[in-house]
Amino acid sequence: MSLKGRDFLSMADLEAGELVALLDRAAEFKRALREGRVRPSLQGKLVALIFQKPSTRTRVSFEAAVRHLGGHPINMNATEMQLGRGETISDTGRVLSRYVHAITLRTFAHREVEELAEAAEVPVINALTDLEHPCQVLADLFTIRERFGGFSGIKLTYLGDGNNVANSLALGCALAGMTFTAASPPGYEPDEAILGKARSMAGEGAVRVVQDPREAVSGAHVLYTDVWVSMGQGDEARRHRDLRPYQLNRELLELADPDAVVMHCLPAHRGQEITDEVLDGPCSLVWDQAENRMHAQAALLCLLMGEEV
Ligand code: CP
Ligand code: NVA
Repeated sequence: MSLKGRDFLSMADLEAGELVALLDRAAEFKRALREGRVRPSLQGKLVALIFQKPSTRTRVSFEAAVRHLGGHPINMNATEMQLGRGETISDTGRVLSRYVHAITLRTFAHREVEELAEAAEVPVINALTDLEHPCQVLADLFTIRERFGGFSGIKLTYLGDGNNVANSLALGCALAGMTFTAASPPGYEPDEAILGKARSMAGEGAVRVVQDPREAVSGAHVLYTDVWVSMGQGDEARRHRDLRPYQLNRELLELADPDAVVMHCLPAHRGQEITDEVLDGPCSLVWDQAENRMHAQAALLCLLMGEEV
């Protein structure tokens, strides 16, 4: 199997078998890194990392992965590029393709990563848009598989704002064969078109949206939440009021499966979407989840840049 030259803009870009190959490669990279025997699969390769929004994990985990694999990251803040002065995404993609072997982009409109991918001759990776965060969910699926040994029978419940992370999770769960439930207040549901796509992949009953957070967490194995105000959204008092009943706290955790784990893509707003007690508690996987960004992205880069699996 080869993913050579492909883009990774959405979780829906992967087939189930490709997901398994990526997760296996991530596990191999993680082991090799711990044992100090990582192969320099990206030797001589340059990877451009462009950010139109802030980032801690995505930026550093990509940069670390590229360096561990013997390649060279080129980190760019979009405001310091001609992009910030009106050069088009397409022209930027055509030019960068002459210098580097892959491009990652974090931006606002999802259309921008699509435009970049259409113009670029090298793989383009979505490092977060307003619609999706597929690199996050690749690492999340890796983390879930590490903990549960597989995906069969696993129920994931997402609590709160149906944002980019929720959208990619719906697709990721469908691809992996887990059931996905979002608990969101009216007006905050995940994207309708994405839910439709996830249902077409997994079947109607495997992708649910409910309003009652207590119903949603009942029997769930993975409880997942994210910020109430994503980058680029207005921080209105109304959002906080509407999303308050969806806070991931001990009361909700106690209604889930006794072996349930807690996940959050981070950064967390402690005391808002999640309590300290839960984030720092024994069920939390968030630090492994953050570490696994690096392993999952190392695998992604290796496969998109031509490694056969
Ligand atoms: N989870 C995530 O993407 O974090 P950053 O915004 O810090 O990259
Ligand atoms: N939903 C969040 C994720 C941050 C990693 C945002 O878009 O800000």
